[in-house]
Parts: sequence; C-alpha cells; structure tokens
Amino acid sequence: MEEAEEFTFSSAEPGETERIAAIFARQLQGGEIVTLRGVLGAGKTLFAAAMIRELGVAEPVLSPTYVLQRSYGTSAGLTIHHMDFYRLSGTDDLEALGVDELSTDDSIVLAEWPERCPGAFGEITAQVTLDVMSEQGRSITFRLGVLPFERDGFARAASTLKPDLRKP
Ligand SMILES: Nc1ncnc2c1ncn2[C@@H]1O[C@H](COP(=O)(O)OP(=O)(O)O)[C@@H](O)[C@H]1O
Ligand SMILES: [Mg+2]
Repeated sequence: MEEAEEFTFSSAEPGETERIAAIFARQLQGGEIVTLRGVLGAGKTLFAAAMIRELGVAEPVLSPTYVLQRSYGTSAGLTIHHMDFYRLSGTDDLEALGVDELSTDDSIVLAEWPERCPGAFGEITAQVTLDVMSEQGRSITFRLGVLPFERDGFARAASTLKPDLRKP
C-alpha cells in the first residue's frame, strides 16, 4: 500500500471499539474497501457491525462467517458488503461471490480475513488490524491507503480518541 499512513488507538472494552468504528465509518462515502485483520475473537465482526449500524442500517448485523457475505442498504443509499473469508475454500468461492464486481462508487466493502484471499481486491482504502492486548483490551491500527478516504476528516475526528502508546 503506497503512502500508507497509520493511526493506532487503544480500546479498553467493546463499547470503545464500537465508538472508534463509528468515527471511522462516518468518514466513508462510498467506493471504499476496508479490510479487517486480527485473530478469532479480536473483534472484527463487532467492529464491522458498529460501522454498519453507524451508516444507518437498522436491521440486525449477523456474522457473515458461515455465508461468506451479507449485504445491507444504508440510509444514504449505499450498499455495504460485509464478508468473511475465514471459511473460504478456494478461488472458486471467490469467483462465486463476484468480489470484483462488489466494489462500486456506491458500495462499501468490509472484509474479514483478507489474508485468506490475497489479491482479491484492488486498492484497499484502509486496513484495520485488531490486536488482543488483554481480555478486554484491544489495540486498533488503521493503515490508510490513498483513495478516496477522507483522511483529514478522520485525523480530526480521531484526535478525540486515545492513542495506543504501547505501539511505536
Ligand atoms: N475491547 C474490545 N473490542 C472488541 N471486542 C471485545 C473487546 N473486549 C472484549 N471483546 C469481545 O471479543 C469478542 C469479539 O468477537 P468478534 O467480533 O466476533 O471477533 P472476530 O470477528 O474478530 O472473530 C466479542 O465477544 C467482544 O465482546
Ligand atoms: Mg468475525
């Protein structure tokens, strides 16, 4: 990812992760691809669900682990594709999902376990990594790519968050 810029925050409990996810979600306007990394139980789905709710989806957000992908319509008319590649068995599945066609100017792609299918996406807007620091403690790193993210808006909004000083 060229010109990557990093922000790392610490979260002491699930509600804090949800607040960080909401601040991040508010910067999205459509056309973004966001990947979510971290071990099982790190909080990828919790983070994605908080983003989806913040974008104005009233229906319950369920984990896409077993179905690979779920889509939601937002109040602003965008479509969010929430996917989870954990159980992906090969490139056939990937083709069946049509990942290539899912990213459009009026969609947002959120993908858990992107490392299971390297190269599935084009330009990634932001890579979010959740690291487990303790039972409830998480370190959340945003690695921002180039387009079309509101980088300045996020930096401003994120200035109210708690930076994780444990990370360089
Ligand atoms: N600070 C935190 N941030 C996110 N999740 C947390 C935190 N502390 C505890 N948890 C718990 O960790 C679990 C994360 O689950 P989930 O989001 O399904 O993980 P993943 O999708 O990464 O496998 C949830 O049960 C959540 O309540
Ligand atoms: Mg998950």
